[in-house]
Amino acid sequence: MRLDRFVSHAGGYSRKEARQLIRHGRIRVNGTVLRNEAFRLDEDAEVICGDERLVLPQRIYLMMHKPVGLISATEDGTQATVLSLLPQDIAERVHPVGRLDKDTSGLLLLTDDGAWSHAVSAPRRHCAKTYIARLAEPLVDDAEQRLADGLMLRGERYPTRPATLVRLADDEVRITITEGRYHQVKRMFAALGNRVSLLHREAIGGLVLDDALAPGQWRVLSDVEREQVLTGA
Ligand code: URA
Repeated sequence: MRLDRFVSHAGGYSRKEARQLIRHGRIRVNGTVLRNEAFRLDEDAEVICGDERLVLPQRIYLMMHKPVGLISATEDGTQATVLSLLPQDIAERVHPVGRLDKDTSGLLLLTDDGAWSHAVSAPRRHCAKTYIARLAEPLVDDAEQRLADGLMLRGERYPTRPATLVRLADDEVRITITEGRYHQVKRMFAALGNRVSLLHREAIGGLVLDDALAPGQWRVLSDVEREQVLTGA
């Protein structure tokens, strides 16, 4: 996090006040006076203002029902992001954990805890993600087997990891994948000669989107839910 943001959040100062404190040499980072407001702090940096150690308020962990039409990023030059749904003081701190396409809805996690975010999205962890997909064409008979065997996606060198498929209706399936490649679900169905017309994420690990949340709504995660994301319990 940038030094001026940190001083502002941890000290309860406006961004302007925080910058003034930094410029006037009032802020020490790990024992050294720093006057660069854009300095990037390590997670465990010790920041002192006068005689007082500044610490950030408690970490934030949120689940959001992402609506179609918003970008899952912290900023975008032209388009509205999911952060526009949050109060400003929270939006300034959090980032989305992984991404959903603009036209995908469903479970999106947001946090200011970089280590947790990394643990959820780290490729080696193979965190399961479950989606409901509406399909434009009838699904081929051997889809389950081909998804279990792994598919070669266009432009990729390795097949996808085994995915599981449940047919919910003629044109609707539930699919669980354990990777996060670019547009992965859409590309997997394209590899099966189909097209996804609607995509909705139901779950990450063992955490299912709260069905009390309408599109655009969000709430804080409990400690148990935070663990469920990682354990798949
Ligand atoms: N796969 C996709 O194709 N899109 C998403 O938004 C998520 C997974």
